[in-house]
Amino acid sequence: MTQDELKKAVGWAALEFVTPGTIVGVGTGSTASHFIDALGSIKDQVKGAVSSSEASTEKLKSLGIPILDCNEVDSLDIYVDGADEINSNMQMIKGGGAALTREKIIAAIAKKFVCIVDASKQVDVLGRFPLPVEVIPMARSYVARELVKLGGVPKYRQNVVTDNGNVILDVHNLSILDPIELENKINGIAGVVTVGLFANRGADVVLMGALDGVKTITQ
Ligand code: 5RP
Repeated sequence: MTQDELKKAVGWAALEFVTPGTIVGVGTGSTASHFIDALGSIKDQVKGAVSSSEASTEKLKSLGIPILDCNEVDSLDIYVDGADEINSNMQMIKGGGAALTREKIIAAIAKKFVCIVDASKQVDVLGRFPLPVEVIPMARSYVARELVKLGGVPKYRQNVVTDNGNVILDVHNLSILDPIELENKINGIAGVVTVGLFANRGADVVLMGALDGVKTITQ
């Protein structure tokens, strides 16, 4: 099985968590894209979706799934999204697709975060994948200097503007032993919109695709 086939398997497996008649939080990326295909197959059974990016919104719309404004929704039963890395405490690095801020907002609203990943995303210690940080453009250099003080090597993601009009710094060379502490520290730097560490609010369920099938992990 290829990595994409594993992503497809978990994307479709996530359908079992969708309760008919509800609004679904939808993530961004190649794994989430498979989930959107799956959601399209039951589109008459859902009220609609709150989407984490313009790209996912386009795809949801093309499949005829109504999009709801996040501000119109008090809470969501579930949010389904991928991750760049996940540890055994279900804490994640996200933002490889630059959608981290909207993803974090939807995760905050959702009662259940269902993370869909292939097994290559599982790590003991977060940080091998460069940690994305969304930054207000005028704060880019200042935030980069502060990230160096925290032991990282920030790199400006060239030619990327987020859906919110900001830029991304990818922080290399981190070994994140205390994800909650680092999430709080980076979020406290002036000019940071969001760090792609999902540690304070991790996943509730992980669907992990491996060669021997999809495993459901809960804590
Ligand atoms: C986008 C994300 C994605 O969930 C993450 O990058 C994983 O992507 P993929 O499913 O393509 O491997 O956080 O901002």
